[in-house]
Amino acid sequence: MSSQFIEKARQVESRASEAFKAATSEAELEAARIAFLGARGLFAELMKELGQLPNEVRPQAGGEANRARKKATEVYQAAKEALERGAVSEDSLDVTLPGRRPAPGRRHIISRTTAEICAIFAQLGFSIVEGPEVETDYYNFEALNFPPDHPSRDMQDTFFVSRDLLLRTHTSPMQVRSMEKSRPPVWVVAPGKTYRRDSDISHSPMFHQVEGLLVDRGITFADLKGILTSFAASMFSPDTKIRLRPSFFPFTEPSAEVDIACVLCGGRGCRLCGDSGWLEILGSGMVDPNVYAFVNYDPEEFSGFAFGLGVERVAMLKYGLDDIRMFYESDLRFLAQF
Ligand code: PHE
Repeated sequence: MSSQFIEKARQVESRASEAFKAATSEAELEAARIAFLGARGLFAELMKELGQLPNEVRPQAGGEANRARKKATEVYQAAKEALERGAVSEDSLDVTLPGRRPAPGRRHIISRTTAEICAIFAQLGFSIVEGPEVETDYYNFEALNFPPDHPSRDMQDTFFVSRDLLLRTHTSPMQVRSMEKSRPPVWVVAPGKTYRRDSDISHSPMFHQVEGLLVDRGITFADLKGILTSFAASMFSPDTKIRLRPSFFPFTEPSAEVDIACVLCGGRGCRLCGDSGWLEILGSGMVDPNVYAFVNYDPEEFSGFAFGLGVERVAMLKYGLDDIRMFYESDLRFLAQF
């Protein structure tokens, strides 16, 4: 009789423990508590049966029943605390749910545009070179034939690091560095960051240029125009027209500013081009003989042209953007569009 009772007490205890551990919500756990530990639960029933046992065995059987109920109560307490801490049982883990993927990054639109520009010139036969962003006055100004009192040498326009060191204001110093390194033929494009004290809707204190330089025997202005026409066709659309306007740079003579027919209206005139039908994309010209003097090239023997292209400008025209600052705000909603 008593061994049967003890066996039953152990079974109730193990079933109760299993039910408490399996509960995945507080409601489930509470239902199990009522079924086993409640006033009319299985342990209460067990206690009633205890009363019907003969006197001699009752103390031992009662001790066993109490031990079983105490143990089940402990398991219940532990399960309750686990649920309150938010611990999840194995059963509530859905292993078939898709995992969380890290958002893939992409190249910044300025890097992509720079690479695209360089690829076009590489196809035309130019090599790609790079040089320092912190430059000397010599490469940034002096060897490019800037007079000592030229306005861009003013603190207003240039970030100086020291009296003689500055953040390059254009990629043109790479013309001098490239010519110093080798004799003609020189065919190079030099992409990179440039800096000017300027900031508004169309100027950023840091921006990007791609410099081009071609020096060889018998190079003429027609070659300059041919190369740039070919570039515009590849970069924008095959029938893109270009226009050269007389301009001035200390290191080129003659100099020209180059416009492309407006990408929006095709030349008819619109808001983007200010009704002119044309958009400026670069500065260019035939290398000034004064610059050759700094690198010991004979201007009687060699001639060539140079150009400097604004990468942000090209990207804005190509993608129809009207605020240069968008490139540098790191807004993923903007950057993810490209
Ligand atoms: N360096 C000039 C600028 O930044 C552009 C340029 C480059 C002009 C090469 C002529 C030749 O405005």
